[in-house]
Amino acid sequence: RIDEHTIRSLPKAEVHVHLEGTFSLLDILTLAKDNGVRLPGPAATLFDITTHDAFTAPAVTSGGGAGAGAAGLSGFLRFLDWQCGLVRTPAQAARVAYAFAARQSASGVRYSDVIVNPTHWNAWHGRELALMDALASGFDEAEQDGLCAVSIAYSLLRSQSAADAEAVVTDLITRRPHRVVALSVDGDEKVTGRTGEKFRAAFARAAQGGLHRTVHAGESSGPEGVWDAVELLQAERIDHGVRAVEDPALLDRLVGGGISLGVCPRSNVTLGISPSWHEHPLRRLHEAGVLVTLNTDDPAPLGTTLEADWAVAAEQFGFDHADLVGFAARSIDASFADPDTKASLH
Ligand code: ADE
Ligand code: ZN
Repeated sequence: RIDEHTIRSLPKAEVHVHLEGTFSLLDILTLAKDNGVRLPGPAATLFDITTHDAFTAPAVTSGGGAGAGAAGLSGFLRFLDWQCGLVRTPAQAARVAYAFAARQSASGVRYSDVIVNPTHWNAWHGRELALMDALASGFDEAEQDGLCAVSIAYSLLRSQSAADAEAVVTDLITRRPHRVVALSVDGDEKVTGRTGEKFRAAFARAAQGGLHRTVHAGESSGPEGVWDAVELLQAERIDHGVRAVEDPALLDRLVGGGISLGVCPRSNVTLGISPSWHEHPLRRLHEAGVLVTLNTDDPAPLGTTLEADWAVAAEQFGFDHADLVGFAARSIDASFADPDTKASLH
């Protein structure tokens, strides 16, 4: 087994990680205390939050209904709404941003694109760019302290309307919030069905305005979601994309277009997208020549770290040290860091 210390020491980036999925238990407890929110009292419920069964949704007694017992991706997203609802002031937002950079540095991540979906942060509805500014100030402070450099992928939720999406993009390209470099879309595709057409105009406007594009697809959707991301949304990266493995023509399109997949095997296994590590298609995608990166998605509620997931992937898929060096180099290439930063990261 390749040890985690060795993995931490590889210069790398992480490109598929949600800020919403990186709050430690201590972060959550501190935010709740700051805001006078009473957490679920029974140790058993707190245990649910921290043992990373959060997507089975804790029975929250105050601070706004995560709902009980809803398993899988949708229940998990409701948990994020509850948790992010605890971030209410600019100082609190800056603090979770700083903590993210510190977490990434502890895993040996030198640069990270982080997905932020303001719809989860219910204290900031209508003030989404103020949230971006507050987060950016935390990332600035972290970088000044020598921690991981971070860029933001501003994420739409799949259930938002076309008009909302276009308004978001107009705001982003006119106001150009510091550190926001990309447009993203996430959420549960099983709930909304196909959304490529709905978001086509927003993503076209983003591309024209110089924003990168990364799209969750082929997780809760099949290959058709990945086709839509590529053909309709001008995606440069796919978040997950694992179900592309079912369609050889799509694999050729990804390889030919240099479109990378931000794969997160532990997330897929835990959230029930893949039955086991053993059956997960990461190795098959890699062998088909697709540019695959290895990421955590939501490490805190999934109870993991990047280095732990890389170690398990090495073991489960039979990757050796040279393979992991390749994954590390590819993560930097696949990132939205500017070319000078990329050169300095390798
Ligand atoms: N938001 C946070 N994690 C997500 C995931 N795995 N899929 C879709 N949306 C998400
Ligand atoms: Zn994700």
